[in-house]
Amino acid sequence: MSRTVLLDRPGTRPEPPRRARDDARRSAVRLRRTSGRALRSRRERAEEELAGRARQQAAVAALGLSALRGAELQDLLEEAVILVARTLGADHCKVMQLVEPDTLLLRAGFGWRAGQVGRYTTGLSAESPCGYSLRSGAPIVVEDFATDARFPSPPQLLHEHGIVSAASVLIRDRHGTFGVLGAYTRSRRAFGQDDLDFLQSVANVLATTVERHRVEDQLRDHREQLQALSRRLLEAQEAERRAVARDLHDELGQLLTALKMDLRWLERRLGALDPAERSGAMIDRAVAASSLVDQTVRTVQRMAADLRSGPLERLGLGSALGCEGRRFQERTGISCEVRLAEQLPELPMAVATALYRIAQEALTNVARHAGAQRVVILLRAGGSELALRIQDDGRGIDDAAAGAGLGLGLLGMHERASMLGGHVKIARGPAGGTVVTTRVPLAPTAVASPEVAT
Ligand SMILES: Nc1ncnc2c1ncn2[C@@H]1O[C@H](COP(=O)(O)OP(=O)(O)OP(=O)(O)O)[C@@H](O)[C@H]1O
Ligand SMILES: [Mg+2]
Repeated sequence: MSRTVLLDRPGTRPEPPRRARDDARRSAVRLRRTSGRALRSRRERAEEELAGRARQQAAVAALGLSALRGAELQDLLEEAVILVARTLGADHCKVMQLVEPDTLLLRAGFGWRAGQVGRYTTGLSAESPCGYSLRSGAPIVVEDFATDARFPSPPQLLHEHGIVSAASVLIRDRHGTFGVLGAYTRSRRAFGQDDLDFLQSVANVLATTVERHRVEDQLRDHREQLQALSRRLLEAQEAERRAVARDLHDELGQLLTALKMDLRWLERRLGALDPAERSGAMIDRAVAASSLVDQTVRTVQRMAADLRSGPLERLGLGSALGCEGRRFQERTGISCEVRLAEQLPELPMAVATALYRIAQEALTNVARHAGAQRVVILLRAGGSELALRIQDDGRGIDDAAAGAGLGLGLLGMHERASMLGGHVKIARGPAGGTVVTTRVPLAPTAVASPEVAT
């Protein structure tokens, strides 16, 4: 069977009827228009999505910056809920904090009735999205509370505000769960994975700030405990000194006085004896013993006075530092110069005692650690503060010792100054050696307890 193949040759194709031609043209135009519209709307949707993501990234970046700048936690939570609501176009947003194992507190919120933030609490019932997230440990999306079988009766707050859709994520750091961040709308909305990712990024920034605050609180607690401990140590040290001084003065002093009286009696009796009976050596021995007792009494008196900051009480800070410098030089052979301001104001005993003890400890350190030839003590009053500087020309304190203040001596110096609202700086001097500079306000902001002030 033969097959006839008709080939289209230019000019030979038969013309379609005119109506059919018009129809075909019209449908081609329609097709072009429809696909153009679809293309445009796809492109617009893609552009919108891109713009949305850019907005989300900008929001997370802005929040991260606030966190880096050390914003207070409450301020950051409030900034976060506003940012989330605006960026997602949500009607409401909130951070619920887990305040007890089974209670959530509305810690920060956007769009809720006035008076709810900081007051509204709810349990961890599985019928709240927050409770659900906490129990499951995962983010949650509710497209419509009315039809979602997981939440037959949503929490009162959501009900009162006519919430239809929700999305929430956990705020969790390495040590545990702080709470939940949630966004809510009053009209139906399908929160997508992008929205959840954005919420989680915000929650992560919040979590790092929560952790930073937790660490800062712990540090502050430890510092306060350390300060309380060293304060008690200083008080105990001063009380101990007074007790030893009292015992030295009262008991040892009285015993020595009694011994002295006996020796006097012996001296007199020996003197009254017949020359044949007495020997010169015996009298000499009694006189020598008596002068030894005199010497011991003077030493005991000096020790008792030192323990009670005697020179300070009698002479004031400037002269007491002068005495201390002279004694240091005699004892150690290290030359000591004391330079005092021409006019020193009258100082409260707490201030004078603290500076005197700091100078004593600094001088002891020079003798023990510096290997110095010379030390200069400088006391100045300028403006509203008093400055005491002790500078040696020794080997210089090493940075670790100066920074950490591990020894009790340096710790005590810092503590004494800080009890008066001042501070101590311990460092190598520009020309070598060690410089200990103490600055305290002339009107102390925190005055030591009377125990320490004596
Ligand atoms: N003037 C100084 N020159 C060099 N090193 C110093 C000087 N003062 C302190 N140091 C260093 O700082 C350390 C800490 O001093 P700190 O007074 O706290 O403790 P310490 O003198 O060793 O013991 P203590 O608790 O009996 O005072 C010293 O061990 C020493 O290494
Ligand atoms: Mg010391």
